[in-house]
Amino acid sequence: EKGGYDHFMLKEIFEQPQTIYDSLRGRLDAKKGTLTMGGIREYADVLSNANRIVIVACGTSWHAGLVAEYIIEELCRIPVEVEYASEFRYRNPVIGEGDVIIAVSQSGETADTLVAIESAKEKGAIILGICNVVGSSIARASQAGAYTHAGPEIGVASTKAFTAQLAVLTLTALKIAAEKGSISEQRFQHLLDELEDVSDKVATALELNDQIKEIADKYKDARDFLFLGRGYNFPVALEGALKLKEISYIHAEGYPAAEMKHGPIALVDENLPVVFVATKDTYYEKVVSNIQEIKARKGKVIAIITEGDETIPAMADDVIIVPEADELVAPMISVIPLQLLAYHVGVLKGYDVDKPRNLAKSVTVE
Ligand code: M6R
Repeated sequence: EKGGYDHFMLKEIFEQPQTIYDSLRGRLDAKKGTLTMGGIREYADVLSNANRIVIVACGTSWHAGLVAEYIIEELCRIPVEVEYASEFRYRNPVIGEGDVIIAVSQSGETADTLVAIESAKEKGAIILGICNVVGSSIARASQAGAYTHAGPEIGVASTKAFTAQLAVLTLTALKIAAEKGSISEQRFQHLLDELEDVSDKVATALELNDQIKEIADKYKDARDFLFLGRGYNFPVALEGALKLKEISYIHAEGYPAAEMKHGPIALVDENLPVVFVATKDTYYEKVVSNIQEIKARKGKVIAIITEGDETIPAMADDVIIVPEADELVAPMISVIPLQLLAYHVGVLKGYDVDKPRNLAKSVTVE
C-alpha cells in the first residue's frame, strides 16, 4: 500500500507531479486558454464583486492561504485577510454580506475551520470551500467550492494536499481575475502555461532527493533551524519550519527574511542552520542581502535557488537548485526540497514520520 516507499509521507511527496496534474485536470486547458471551475461557476459574479476575501484555515492549509493572499491581491485587486480559524471564530470578527470566506482544509473536518465558517455564514458571508476529502463536513457546509483531488493523504504531515491547495487556489484567483477583468489576456495565458508546466518541474525537483538526504545528514543534530523567505516564498518558509518540527522534533521557526533583523538574528551563530527559500523573483536581490546578514554572523546557509543563479552559490554553505518558474507558481516547486528535508531528518533520527508524536491527522476538537 506504500507503493514500494518506506513511508506514506515519502510516497505522498513523490506523488505530487501526478496530484498537481489531477488538481488542474479538467479545469485548465492552456492550449485553448480556458479555465473551467464547475463548483464556483454560479458564484463567479459574487466572488469577483466581493468587498474582501477572508481565508480561514489551520496549519499547512493556513500556509496555502497565505500564498493565496498574495496571488489574489496581485491578480484580482480584492483585499484578502488570512486568519487562523480558531482566532477568527472567537474574536467576534466584522463580517457581513459582500464578504467571501474561503475555507481551506485537507480533511474538511477540522473543527476550528468548520465552526468558523458556520458562524460567518450566519452573518451573511458566502463560503467557498477548498477541501480534499469529498463529501466532508466543510465541503458540505460551503455554498461553493472546489476539491483539490490529491487523493487520500495518510501521512500526518501534509504534503501533497498543500501543493494541490496551491494549484486550486491559483486557479480560483485566475478565474476571479478573468471574471473581474483585472488581468490582461497575456498574463492570464502566461499563468495558464506556467501552471501546466508545474508538474514536470516538481518531478525535476524530486530528483534532488539523494542530495537532500545528504544535507539532512549534515544538519540533523542541530538544535534549532530558521526558515526564511519573502513574498510568495514567505509562507513556504513557514511550511518548511512546520514540517521539520512535526517530523523531526527539532525546534524550527519560519520568518519573512527581512523581519529576521528585528529579533531572530540574535539566535544566529555557527551552530544555526538557516534555510533560505531564495528563488529568482521580485524579492531576489533583497534576499541576497539577507543571506549576507546571516553569513556575517557565521550562520550556516542552506539555500533553495533557481537554476542559473551564480550569486548565492558563492555565499551559501549548501544550495538546492530547482527549475525556474513564475513567482506565483514557484511555491509549489520550492516547497518540495523542504518536505524532503524534514522527511530525511526525521527518518535519520529514527522517528516514525508517518505518525509523529502528539499529532492526529485531523483535529476534530476545537
Ligand atoms: O485537514 P486540514 O487541512 O484542515 O488540517 C489543518 C491542520 O491540522 C494540518 O494542516 C496540520 O497542521 C498538519 N499536521 C500539517 O502537516
